[in-house]
Amino acid sequence: MRAKATLNREYTISSVDKRVYGSFLEHMGRAVYTGIYEPGHENADKDGFRTDVLDMVRDLDMPIVRYPGGNFVSAYRWEDGIGPREERPVRLDLAWRTRETNQVGVNEFADWAKLAGTEMMLAMNLGSRGLDDARNFLEYCNHPGGTYWSDLRSKHGYKEPHNVRIWCLGNEMDGPWQVGHKSAAEYGHLANEVSKAFKYFDKTLETVVCGSSNDKMKTYPEWEATVLEASYDSVDYISLHKYFGNEEQDTLNYYAKAIELDRYIVTIGGVIDYIKAKKRSKRDVKICFDEWNVWYHDRKEDGERIASWDWPEAPPLLEELYNLEDAIFVGSLLNVFIRRSDRVKIACMAQLVNVIAPILTKAGGPAWRQSIYYPLQYASKYGRGTALTVAQSGPTYDCEVAQDVPYLDLSAVLHEDGKSIAVFAINRSLDEPLGLTVDLQGFKGAKIVEHQMLAGDDLKARNSVEDQNRIVPKSGKELTMDDTGTLVGSLPPRSYHFVLLSVASA
Ligand code: AHR
Repeated sequence: MRAKATLNREYTISSVDKRVYGSFLEHMGRAVYTGIYEPGHENADKDGFRTDVLDMVRDLDMPIVRYPGGNFVSAYRWEDGIGPREERPVRLDLAWRTRETNQVGVNEFADWAKLAGTEMMLAMNLGSRGLDDARNFLEYCNHPGGTYWSDLRSKHGYKEPHNVRIWCLGNEMDGPWQVGHKSAAEYGHLANEVSKAFKYFDKTLETVVCGSSNDKMKTYPEWEATVLEASYDSVDYISLHKYFGNEEQDTLNYYAKAIELDRYIVTIGGVIDYIKAKKRSKRDVKICFDEWNVWYHDRKEDGERIASWDWPEAPPLLEELYNLEDAIFVGSLLNVFIRRSDRVKIACMAQLVNVIAPILTKAGGPAWRQSIYYPLQYASKYGRGTALTVAQSGPTYDCEVAQDVPYLDLSAVLHEDGKSIAVFAINRSLDEPLGLTVDLQGFKGAKIVEHQMLAGDDLKARNSVEDQNRIVPKSGKELTMDDTGTLVGSLPPRSYHFVLLSVASA
């Protein structure tokens, strides 16, 4: 089998917004408690943040983190998480049927985000609450001083405002499971009013309106049309979510699900254009894909546990163990975000620590990287710049979710200085190597600077606390530059590749 991709310096898609390599931290399971925050842990700093976890987050060069939910936010009172810790109330969290101690709230998250070198994206409760609580939250976070809420923040030890630039108008409001679920018309109206109020406060703030929880919802994509009809002029992004799994234990079919992600983005791009035209608007609403990941390994069992447990505090929940198969697939999803960088400006792998996460911890024990950490890390560190159009040809396969699925999945990003290109390539074949030719038009003197790959015989192999480096990238040797300046070689079956090329203009 052989595939060919052509890249040309002049043929570009869009600049890639670094925020497509973002993540998400929800107050659920052990994401916050014993995830990022564990006072008394041997690696905890003076404020209780785990420095081993912080190091791993910093190594991801994480641009943005969404907080505090998720389903959790739809019944959350942000005021419970501010002020002296000993006075903060313990509350029931209806989303995950757990107890929330509120020992971490928005101020602690701001401290953590600073340490992690990341931007905060805050979600407000538009399920059980509304405009007043949201604008109070904004005033508490962003106003410099001299008002009730901003002075309260100073009293809590945070004189400087947090200056949060981007705000999510609720979470998954299309989902009947959501506390305070609304119809598209009700939600669209509310979201528009809140977004307007936020911009009365500061017209440079950006807001994200909820689109569909997934593309299988009965209301999809009518939900987006109705919500945008009501809010197009005041919002900046529409949020989409989607989780994937190999429930059928059919790897080729699983890998083809990246095409569903692509179709989802294209469809909602069409809805955005439709509403834009209908409103004779000049503004472009962009996509904020603020929850995506693989989530299926223990999903059913977790659902049963939640239904039967008695409001535990920070229990292990959604602690998916990711394998090599998942890491290759996550690489494919990131390729979609790069190739659709004209539409998608923010994307958040859900989530960051312990809960469906690239980083796992043991309470009182170590932290380690899961297999999916690595494609996210390479994309985040090297996938910044301008996405190049990929013209490709090669063998394909048919499966249940799609037809003509290419075995080669490739994206390429030209770095800002024009002197290097990152190529992210996957061979989806389970049993055959894929010969690869990448024609680099408009570039000269290309050299391979680095080639890392994830591959192996056992797709189900994964890292664990005992064997933390079972799945780690290895240097690849299968690709070379030929004397015409073309990248050539062969990708082993079931493999993910990151290739860094240095280039000059032709
Ligand atoms: O990330 C886990 C959950 O998935 C989030 O709380 C919710 O928004 C989504 O359904």
